[in-house]
Amino acid sequence: MEVSERIAVIGAGYVGLTTALCLAELGHSVACADIDRDRVARLCAGQCPIHEPGLEDLLRRCLAEGAVTFVDDPTRAVGDADFVLLCVPTPQTASGAADLSHLEAAARGISRSLRDGVVVINKSTVPIGSTRFVDGVLGRPDVVVVSNPEFLREGSAIHDFLHPDRIIIGCVDPDVAARVAELYRGLAAPVLVTDPESAELVKYASNAFLAMKLTFANEIVRLCEEFEADSGDVLQGMGLDSRIGPGFLAPGPGWGGSCFPKDSRALVQMATRTAAGFPMLTAMLETNDSHFDRVVAKVERALDGPLDGARVAVWGLTFKANTDDRRESPALAVVRRLVAGGATVVAFDPTVPAGASIEECATVGSALDAVHDAHVLVVLTEWPEFATVDATAVAARLRGRTVVDARNLLDRGSYADAGLELIGQGR
Ligand code: NAD
Ligand code: UGA
Repeated sequence: MEVSERIAVIGAGYVGLTTALCLAELGHSVACADIDRDRVARLCAGQCPIHEPGLEDLLRRCLAEGAVTFVDDPTRAVGDADFVLLCVPTPQTASGAADLSHLEAAARGISRSLRDGVVVINKSTVPIGSTRFVDGVLGRPDVVVVSNPEFLREGSAIHDFLHPDRIIIGCVDPDVAARVAELYRGLAAPVLVTDPESAELVKYASNAFLAMKLTFANEIVRLCEEFEADSGDVLQGMGLDSRIGPGFLAPGPGWGGSCFPKDSRALVQMATRTAAGFPMLTAMLETNDSHFDRVVAKVERALDGPLDGARVAVWGLTFKANTDDRRESPALAVVRRLVAGGATVVAFDPTVPAGASIEECATVGSALDAVHDAHVLVVLTEWPEFATVDATAVAARLRGRTVVDARNLLDRGSYADAGLELIGQGR
């Protein structure tokens, strides 16, 4: 018979909330704690505090079934748990290194409330050696600390959690590793058991590699523009090689988000402690910044004049579609540059209410409202609804005749028929 475990999840953000609800969906009994009282109150009322497809429905179902509870006191959540999952932020410090203060506070806060022999599982992204660090903070020789990094993406968090490519368990005790693997019973994914340090590095290496792949794709797009090659064909042609694969080759304005930038910088910081450093990653970060500048240069080209005094419409402010997350958003990096150049920016994003002021740009309630009287339109986030906006309605409102499509999202034919020129990425 399958065993339902009692699990505590500390932190109810993108990772913690998804983890808590998906583990409840897998049949476990979950108590989820967050120190943000408002967030906990909303969760108890069945309101999802983040925009993540499917998460609110899952929340309501789990609450109705009594499979999950939310508390604002982590010590209460861990009181009768056999497994405790740490899902707290690990933002970057001024040096770029990971800030472990939230992790330390979370571990310190629960250490005395843990039952004997509990397994503490770290899902936050942490530098190599942090499993031992948490062990030291807990100061509980009876407790085993395990590294179990999370690989979900925002916007497809539930799917990614329930259909992972792999489950990495960093633990030196094979019996404990097997118990942790059993938490994910029913998920058809290979389980790789490693030492904690290796598990921690798998996470950073994977994020940095994906960021590198994107940077490479965006650089190839740049070359396509120089040599009049078609980026769609070139990237498709590369992706058809099974060793390269088609994923993570979609061109964009540069990558961003709450993790790729901070995790790449943290890996650089770790590497600087070695003799060789990691110059390839440093170059990757600089190159990614240059892609934000390239979008601005395209806007200037479209204006055929200075940014100063121009009115620029922007579609999309989040770091990608299907999330409300704007942390290190490439869209905001571009908007900041446009505003610094003297442009007036009017933006629409489906997750941002009209009347908000973000990075000194005004926000409006629809894609067409943003376009009204603008000299140029720039598409920065690939929200699918932007692709369905009527091109003739855009043309009727736009003062200029050019659209910069940094995501290659819009249909060239419809825009050409409407009398608008599309400046895409490598097209
Ligand atoms: P988040 O900011 O969305 O959520 C973190 C939550 O933890 C917040 O609600 C905060 O109030 C709460 N918290 C902070 N300190 C706490 C404490 N001491 N006790 C209880 N709650 C506390 O963060 P996130 O995006 O879920 O990321 C969490 C970790 O997971 C990070 O290390 C991140 O790098 C990693 N990660 C994130 C993603 C992602 O897609 N966002 C994916 C994989 C891994
Ligand atoms: C990323 C990883 O994909 C996850 O595996 C990882 O768990 C997570 O970071 C994390 O550690 O937090 P996420 O940041 O949610 O997930 O989003 P991605 O889909 O990876 O997108 C990151 C950035 O790359 C976005 O700015 C996105 O627009 C851009 N991107 C992505 C592209 O420009 N092209 C693509 O083909 C894919």
